[in-house]
Amino acid sequence: MTIGQSNFAQKTFEITTKNNVLVLETDKDNSLLLSYIGKKLKNTAEYSSIQSLDKYKPGSDDLFNKREAYIASGSLNLLEPALTVTHADGNKSTELTFSRVEEKQIDQNRKLTSIVLKDAKYNFEVSLHYLSYFNEDVIEQWVQIVHKEKGDVVLNKYASANLTLSGKKFFLKNHYSGWGREMRSEEQQLLHGIKTIDSKLGTRNNLLNSSSFMISIDQPATEDLGEVVAGSLEWTGNFRLDFETFDEYYLRLTAGINNFSGNYTLKPGEEFITPRFVYTYSANGKGIASRNLQNWARNYQLLEGMGERSTLLNNWETTYFDFNDEKLNHLIQDTKKLGVDVFLLDDGWFGNKFPRNNATAGLGDWQFNKQKLANGISALGKEATANGVKFGIWLEPEMVNPKSELYENHPDWIIRQPERKEYYMRNQLVLDLSNPKVQDFVFNTVDEVFKEVPDLAFIKWDCNSLIYNANSPTLKNQDHFYLEYVKGLNSVLERIRKKYPKIPMMLCAGGGTRVDYAALKYFTEFWPSDNTNPFDRIFIQWEYSYYFPSVAVDNHVTDMGKQPIKFKTDVAMMGKLGYDVKVNELDEKELLFSQNAVKIYNSIKDIVWHGQQYRLQDPYENKVAAISYVSETRDTAIIFNYYVSTLYNAKNAIPIKLKGLDPDKMYKIEEVNLYPGTTSPIDSQRSYSGDFLMTVGINPEADAGRTSVVLKVMTL
Ligand code: GLA
Repeated sequence: MTIGQSNFAQKTFEITTKNNVLVLETDKDNSLLLSYIGKKLKNTAEYSSIQSLDKYKPGSDDLFNKREAYIASGSLNLLEPALTVTHADGNKSTELTFSRVEEKQIDQNRKLTSIVLKDAKYNFEVSLHYLSYFNEDVIEQWVQIVHKEKGDVVLNKYASANLTLSGKKFFLKNHYSGWGREMRSEEQQLLHGIKTIDSKLGTRNNLLNSSSFMISIDQPATEDLGEVVAGSLEWTGNFRLDFETFDEYYLRLTAGINNFSGNYTLKPGEEFITPRFVYTYSANGKGIASRNLQNWARNYQLLEGMGERSTLLNNWETTYFDFNDEKLNHLIQDTKKLGVDVFLLDDGWFGNKFPRNNATAGLGDWQFNKQKLANGISALGKEATANGVKFGIWLEPEMVNPKSELYENHPDWIIRQPERKEYYMRNQLVLDLSNPKVQDFVFNTVDEVFKEVPDLAFIKWDCNSLIYNANSPTLKNQDHFYLEYVKGLNSVLERIRKKYPKIPMMLCAGGGTRVDYAALKYFTEFWPSDNTNPFDRIFIQWEYSYYFPSVAVDNHVTDMGKQPIKFKTDVAMMGKLGYDVKVNELDEKELLFSQNAVKIYNSIKDIVWHGQQYRLQDPYENKVAAISYVSETRDTAIIFNYYVSTLYNAKNAIPIKLKGLDPDKMYKIEEVNLYPGTTSPIDSQRSYSGDFLMTVGINPEADAGRTSVVLKVMTL
């Protein structure tokens, strides 16, 4: 008898990716257990031996925390459940057992495994879907619930996924935000009890907490060492992540829509499908976990992830609301002068009865302001074409100012509590996207802009308010409100994408407070923060890189911060470069540098956008932060180095070890994007083996006099 052999008909299901496996098994009660998540074993026959070694094997006295794959409440489970149901007869217990499995190989890389669980007493079914992406080592997991009970069932909690991890200790890296300080990071040991990270904000779901996180097992993982599970909930609304440690060896993760104020009534025969939870496992540190998610996002999730992007000149920080045709025409010329692709007209171009001259009025009235733009946005579009550039526009179509015609004409389209005071964020309220009429309005807002500017080349979609007084004037069951809002938003975005599949759209929410992978299906990029001070941005961009590829991250060179324009530009290049500066106020050298920088960027952007990213040296504990992007062939790498010490000219004494190169190839290193009149101490004639560069490293010689250094590493 081999270890673990049991006398019941144990079924084992393996969800395998290139390096990892998730093993699910049935036990003698026919419950489905998650017995393993981690590195693949050499001998797959041994997967079935894992379960019986588990302390909580069936039959022990500790059944209450059996490692079920999807944990329902009201019966055996006494810890935090994934699923809580009130059945049609009022009974609140659910016990799920294995019913059947369906496997579908979608293509060479993707496989969908669906395991159907059934309740023995009720005609109630839960399908667990696992979509594996082999090469990326990524799994998307979600749940589909359907019943045929005699009446409606109420879903009180309906998470997308449960994962039970085993280990001696667990460490959570999570992110908190605020306006201008997005994606701050903290890492802590999860002690006993539940740590919940959630959002009840309705829109701008990541304003306080991010729905992306990393868990290290046994010890806090570094870039290259330690076991890590990185995950993110794909939901542009209220989310809830529960991390519950129990006994000495387990962490149970539950991820899904926040059930706060959201009991969902499910009719017989109706299907409830949860959002997807995407995750990856790395046996060797956070770097691999990030690259897995970035590769998955580019290949499958982010709109045009492997495609091209346009560079922008935006007018927000140079004009704010104060502009007219003449000023904008100059900016269009500046767009050409600088060498970028698109002029992006920001907030302030609309509203007549209530002109949008500041943030207090006009939102919702999407007709061009006749005072500022005598000839409308269509003339601006033509002016852009005449100057050899493209035209883009800012919209915030989900929102309304009380000082607007929209507010006057459609009070029933606005989310509010009829008997209560109105609360505003940035002087605005949120439109009720659960209402199909509002969905039409939002869709038509976008559609009308295209009628005016058929060549429209870019949309910045903003969202500056949270939902206070959550209540739809038209929805019958307010318990469905938050969910219907997101469904309404998605359906509008779906319609926009059907009609305009290619137009680049930037996801913005008063900065980066709505960044999740469900939204990024419709958007080509996001605005990480209104904080464009390049020093702060090094940290903000560093933290986004744990989950999101740089092709999605819009970084603009602006007047914020006192750093030289070279430093600002080098920081912005670490993603999608753009500008929000007064081009006409740049001095001769600054303009020359910027024009060259755009050219250099155009020559390296493919690697920055589509290459493999390696975080080499963090900005928290080092004088120089370094991050690199390596081409698929490993022939070229771009290394961004930023001097972040606030001490006077502290040298970075130790070389920085590169990663991801070919040890057997020979490389030379050239400094690029130099400021006019400066020379580089980096010897571009010397050659180094990849082995040397990865074992010993290279010193970029960044210091207080050379605050940013961009190196191009190329094979000989
Ligand atoms: C938000 C955005 C900014 C800008 C303003 C316009 O704050 O984050 O980039 O578009 O709105 O009002």
